[in-house]
Amino acid sequence: MKTVPSSAVERDLATEVNSRRTFAIISHPDAGKTTLTEKLLYYGGAIQEAGAVRARRGAKAATSDWMEMEKQRGAFCSSRRSPYDRYDGFTLNLLDTPGHADFSEDTYRTVSAADNAVMLVDAAKGLEPQTRKLFEVCRLNGLPIFTFCNKLDRPSLEPLELLDQIEREFDLPTYAVNWPIGSGDAFKGVYHRPTREVHLFDAAVTKESRAKKGEDKSTKGLSVLPVGDATLTERIGEELHAQLMEDIELLDELGSDLDLDAVHAGSLTPVFFGSGMNNFGVQLFLDTFLGYSVRPRGRETSDGVIGPTDDAFTGFVFKLQANMDPRHRDKVAFVRVVSGKFERGMKVTNARTKKAVALSRPSQLFGQDKTVLECGYAGDVIGLNNPGSFAIGDTLYTGKRRVLPPIPTFSPELFAYLRNADTGKYKQFQKGVAELLGEGAVQVMYSRDSLKQDPILAAVGQLQFEVVQARMAQEYGVETTLDMLPFNVARWVEGGWDAVDAAGRIFNAQCVKDVWGAPVLLFKNAWNVDQLVADTPEIGTLSPFSKP
Ligand code: G4P
Repeated sequence: MKTVPSSAVERDLATEVNSRRTFAIISHPDAGKTTLTEKLLYYGGAIQEAGAVRARRGAKAATSDWMEMEKQRGAFCSSRRSPYDRYDGFTLNLLDTPGHADFSEDTYRTVSAADNAVMLVDAAKGLEPQTRKLFEVCRLNGLPIFTFCNKLDRPSLEPLELLDQIEREFDLPTYAVNWPIGSGDAFKGVYHRPTREVHLFDAAVTKESRAKKGEDKSTKGLSVLPVGDATLTERIGEELHAQLMEDIELLDELGSDLDLDAVHAGSLTPVFFGSGMNNFGVQLFLDTFLGYSVRPRGRETSDGVIGPTDDAFTGFVFKLQANMDPRHRDKVAFVRVVSGKFERGMKVTNARTKKAVALSRPSQLFGQDKTVLECGYAGDVIGLNNPGSFAIGDTLYTGKRRVLPPIPTFSPELFAYLRNADTGKYKQFQKGVAELLGEGAVQVMYSRDSLKQDPILAAVGQLQFEVVQARMAQEYGVETTLDMLPFNVARWVEGGWDAVDAAGRIFNAQCVKDVWGAPVLLFKNAWNVDQLVADTPEIGTLSPFSKP
């Protein structure tokens, strides 16, 4: 383990917080998230992480591979390898949200720990299912959302069509910060509205820069022209030039200045176009993003809002990772710092257990490299050794007791009874289920009347089931079987059991309870949900998220 020296020049809390940007990238598999992450990390000065990101790509989502991947993967990537590594004065914390077949509730929870989201869209495909789901979680968390339309070097949808999809489907107004000039073989670059400059795309140059990984040559020097430049027509061709002039006129008519307050409130998304693979438009995006995005924000607590520069330390556990090192069967809890200054060895209180804990071996993870962390500020993520002291959603604090709101439980789509194949191992079975539940590996629900019945596992991805079964066998010595249930939609009944009882007999749904004892209805499809709401108003409001 390397030790990072604490900063020679102490910067005050406000300076530290103002220079931090913590964000997650949300996308559908194959939209190019891994590629974009690599490029962004390059600029952040952490190219090694970029390699680690690349290495896990294409890994099959078999359980064993998943376990392997979990070991290799940090919960997040930071732009810093040391406190001195900054990009343009900023520290970038990029939270890693697995988007592949290993999609799980972790992905959702990680979004809860971010302050900003980058929604990556394949410009040829437009919005896709996983993007939609993750978008909802961003909206639930009130995150500012920045849209990057990727793969413009391939034939793409018209930019207006992409904006229209976002506006229509998400009811989210857009503001094009830049505008593509052609697409596919005819892709010539982007028009950047804030500077009224054209950044030219030159496939030959970018191929070269791709080889050198990261140099955004295409956006430097001769490749940037003011929109009125006399040589522009020659560079992009008459037809595209005429189209661009028309588009600019339209954009100028449509939109005035970007309303940053609306962006920060999550009610307007700035949109960018480019190509991650060609490293085109990435730096332009990053530079603009840094200016527009929000610094770590204050959060609601049981004792009012706590600001990021408050002297008292608060943080919450958003991810637990087990068995990162098989020799130690270690567990790591990832804590997002919300306020104050974190210092190695400091004593905090866990609001749930009310116990004091010394944070003595905090680390930051870079791929497989652990670095001992000396200090951290709001927006940072710390990995803590977790011999069972922490659970998902735990608040850690110093000073006055403050509890951050629990992380909501997200709408599962797969349900199965978990059966214990060896009744002699009842205790181990119960212990395993309880611990995996505490870790947030899976949600567990029970029939309304009986806790004795087998638990119903509820997940957002099939892999969560496989991981539970594998870990039950490996760590608790219990073989299990799964009985899939024919449901795909869960809805929490906001009116509680009174509303369920008032509704009387409910058709086409099974009523179960979550770990907090709240009623949840399981449906085959969304149509059945609408039908119940229409036919039985007594059921009241149904929500796709728990409100613990
Ligand atoms: P993901 O993490 O979102 O799943 O996407 P990933 O970066 O793995 O990219 C998925 C595929 O899309 C990769 O191709 C990648 O090279 C390609 N890609 C990413 N960005 C761009 C882009 O800007 N333009 C084009 N044309 N392609 C892009 P692959 O064939 O699966 O892998 P590889 O052989 O290229 O490594």
